[in-house]
Amino acid sequence: APTNIFINRKNSEGTNLHIDSMYQPFMDKVKRHVGKQWQGGPVINGKTQTTGEAVKVTSPQNLDEQVGSMYFADAELTVKAIEAAHKGYPNWSRTAVEMRATAIEKFADLLEAHKHELIALCTLEAGKLLQDGIDEVREAVDFCRYYAQEARKLYVYPGPLAGPTGELNELFVQPKGVFACISPWNFPLAIFTGQIVAALVTGNTVIAKPAEQTSLVAYRAVELMLEAGIPGEAIQFLPGRGRDVGSVLSRDERVVGICFTGSTDTAKAINRSLADREGAIATLIAETGGQNAMIVDSTALPEQVVKDAVQSAFMSAGQRCSALRVMYVQEDVAERVLELLKGAMQELSVGDSIHYKTDVGPVIDKTAQANLNDHIATISEKGKLLATAPMPEETAKGSFVCPTAVEIGSIKELKKEHFGPILHVIKFKAKELNNIIDDINGTGYGLTLGIHTRNESTAAYIADVVNVGNVYINRNQIGAVVGVQPFGGQGLSGTGPKAGGPHYLARFVTEKTRTNNI
Ligand code: NAD
Ligand code: ALA
Repeated sequence: APTNIFINRKNSEGTNLHIDSMYQPFMDKVKRHVGKQWQGGPVINGKTQTTGEAVKVTSPQNLDEQVGSMYFADAELTVKAIEAAHKGYPNWSRTAVEMRATAIEKFADLLEAHKHELIALCTLEAGKLLQDGIDEVREAVDFCRYYAQEARKLYVYPGPLAGPTGELNELFVQPKGVFACISPWNFPLAIFTGQIVAALVTGNTVIAKPAEQTSLVAYRAVELMLEAGIPGEAIQFLPGRGRDVGSVLSRDERVVGICFTGSTDTAKAINRSLADREGAIATLIAETGGQNAMIVDSTALPEQVVKDAVQSAFMSAGQRCSALRVMYVQEDVAERVLELLKGAMQELSVGDSIHYKTDVGPVIDKTAQANLNDHIATISEKGKLLATAPMPEETAKGSFVCPTAVEIGSIKELKKEHFGPILHVIKFKAKELNNIIDDINGTGYGLTLGIHTRNESTAAYIADVVNVGNVYINRNQIGAVVGVQPFGGQGLSGTGPKAGGPHYLARFVTEKTRTNNI
């Protein structure tokens, strides 16, 4: 069985000095931030509010360990934030795009300068592995720099248009108004940042609502935005519960747009709320869940398949919207692939996120843990349990879920997205390829798809007919890179446009055509 699935960290004695010497000084700097008590609260017009309910933040790795506390906003404070964002709009929208972009780039510099602290927070509050924390900061910085550049290009308008009449025709873009940016816990820094900087750099004012579970790292990011020169009237911060804060935001007609990332159910609830309210038709950008498949045919390389499948299904404890949920393996190679999969899963190291030896950390909280364990119990009874990873004793302290692979008969048995380290496997015969494509499309989700084949025309055909946003051929299917692999799905997986892509900012602006009979 292949070892060293995630990073090449072990030699035959179980250690790898090169990785040790590379990581150790870095980890020491991250660890300096462990053990602190972090505090924060809503930020209105640049001032932190310390009234209302202070909610205790515990670590998913050890539920007895308090990491800090956060004041949560209520409906009344939400209305104050909307008023502040509305009032701040004329100034910020008239600030030159160059100044807005420069402030966002300064914010990126500060994210880099504070990376050790931010990585520690991602680890403590969200249970992220060190590598996941590094990826969070890197992606947040990429979003800042990429959207700053894209905004400069977007605002080259007014651009003259062709006109046969002798009139001067020009096209402008303008910001829309107040945007609510509502983000999930699984990318508590990267997605939180990406949504906000896209809305800000195009000239909108923002009310940022992080997920309940991860508002400490979000609060720290907002402090750095203010330090970078983004004015307090342009960014309001509202940690709090979805039902208290999110629902008020979506009902208020002064909020002209919502940029949301999270579950499909919440996106639909927001959409209903926007449709029912008075006033103009609001903009909704929603990036949601997936039922992501990988198709492995008989020409694929089993070793590579297993490495990519294990990374796609279990990295970040399976808590990526892009994560692999259902692997279809052609019968001819199934025995070899499943044998390698069992071996690879035995090698997975589950445990404390702060150790670089760990491959799989905890899931976000007790509720997620209970739901995932229920699903494992039900589906293993119905299907066939194939493999699990070893669970060390220390995992009893936190919300850990055992990485599990289970064989099932059909993707139709999965009624929803199971957001954790569970890989479902389905065997298929060559003649059934079109049936499984129909089944994948039949889920209604369309986020990522993995294809493993050495037959180029098979890859091209499958990539063409499966309705998804991101296709990955002969590699893993997670970790889209900003500006290089624009990310986002279709159908139940989201509205588009793709985050980190060239059309994203266009949804945050409105266009105006001016015709002048000079
Ligand atoms: P969630 O839908 O429970 O919560 C997301 C956010 O919505 C949170 O801030 C929450 O407080 C808020 N919210 C809850 N109810 C609300 C309401 N009625 N009105 C307004 N806001 C409300 O999702 P989650 O559990 O935080 O995140 C995991 C989900 O996110 C998964 O389904 C995952 O697939 C998805 N996700 C998608 C992408 C993508 O790019 N497509 C990326 C990351 C995560
Ligand atoms: N953009 C993230 C990924 O590709 C969700 O894994």
